[in-house]
Amino acid sequence: MDSQHNINSLLGIRYPILQGPFGGGLSSVKLVAAVSETGGLGGYGGYQLEPQALAEIINDIRKATDKPFNINLWVNDTDAASTNYTDEAYLQLCKLFEPIFNEQGLELPPKPANATSKFEQQVEIVLRTRPAVFSFVFGIPDTAILQDCRKQGIKTIGAATTLDEGFALEEAGVDAIVASGFEAGGHRPSFLQPALESLHGTFALTRILTQHLNTPIIAAGGIADAKGVRAAIALGAAGVQVGTAFLATEESGATDKHKEALNSDKGRYTSLTKAYTGRMGRVLTNGLTQTIHQHLHVAPFPLQTTFMTALRQHALATNREDLIAYWGGQIAAITKRQTAENLMQELIAGLD
Ligand SMILES: Cc1cc2nc3c(=O)[nH]c(=O)nc-3n(C[C@H](O)[C@H](O)[C@H](O)COP(=O)(O)O)c2cc1C
Repeated sequence: MDSQHNINSLLGIRYPILQGPFGGGLSSVKLVAAVSETGGLGGYGGYQLEPQALAEIINDIRKATDKPFNINLWVNDTDAASTNYTDEAYLQLCKLFEPIFNEQGLELPPKPANATSKFEQQVEIVLRTRPAVFSFVFGIPDTAILQDCRKQGIKTIGAATTLDEGFALEEAGVDAIVASGFEAGGHRPSFLQPALESLHGTFALTRILTQHLNTPIIAAGGIADAKGVRAAIALGAAGVQVGTAFLATEESGATDKHKEALNSDKGRYTSLTKAYTGRMGRVLTNGLTQTIHQHLHVAPFPLQTTFMTALRQHALATNREDLIAYWGGQIAAITKRQTAENLMQELIAGLD
């Protein structure tokens, strides 16, 4: 109970319920505002945004709510191998994708410019606009950035998938740590060891981190209702972060079909795959995931998205649902299409 009160006063919120930020365009200003207005912490995933667009989103959130909210970025937002991909290597990659593109009557995309990181410029926007909370995944920002956040009164939250990552985040002095269990939807944000070697479930990870660390732990992965909240708190978590269940709400940035898929038969099966972006993440299982697993070498992040975005646009235009990645976690099968406020009330019921 104490740790819940502490995190509430630390983050300036009424309930220790964080709406998981969604990168890749699935966050929405409406969802952030709805959650923050109901006493939780709304979160916006902005790793893909140009700095100016991020500033505009923050401005829009401020117009929609005067409550605290969280801006989320990826510290490591470009695989090194994507920064100097040779023409020859790209041609080889095209050969692998050719059969899938031919089958769909699609042209292969031209080689994109070498990927560059946006993180440092995005952080400048965060420091200038001062959201109440800055959360991050895939690493730990430089000491200078964390110090600047402290000076500006911005609370910081990092994400750990292992105890070693938890120790590293605590040593860096972050204000809270998300325990990201492998049940969760979206990318696996591991940063010390490869994601495949860092697959702790939420139950074990939350317990390990609360036992060994002093920093408040926020349990994430597989929590979608009051029972899940109660379980996380019983394990010592100071709060919870809920993603997939908020993705299914009216206010999220997901398409109607995506929301419907989450709590349909499709939501019963999920896969951890690098197929869609080049980094490992959890999506609802579909035919394309299987094909890519069986036949293709996966390119680094974000180069893989060059091919997958072209396929996705084609799939959306031609209604080929089997070619669309619906991101979601293992708990998808109990999610409901409802308002964010309803979901918040269900989650709040799990707090004593
Ligand atoms: C579509 C999708 C995108 C996500 N993108 C991010 C992201 O950019 N940054 C982040 O910290 N977490 C991201 N997450 C993780 C969520 O914020 C949250 O921690 C996670 O979904 C909790 O597990 P659950 O899906 O089982 O509720 C994403 C999750 C989903 C489903």
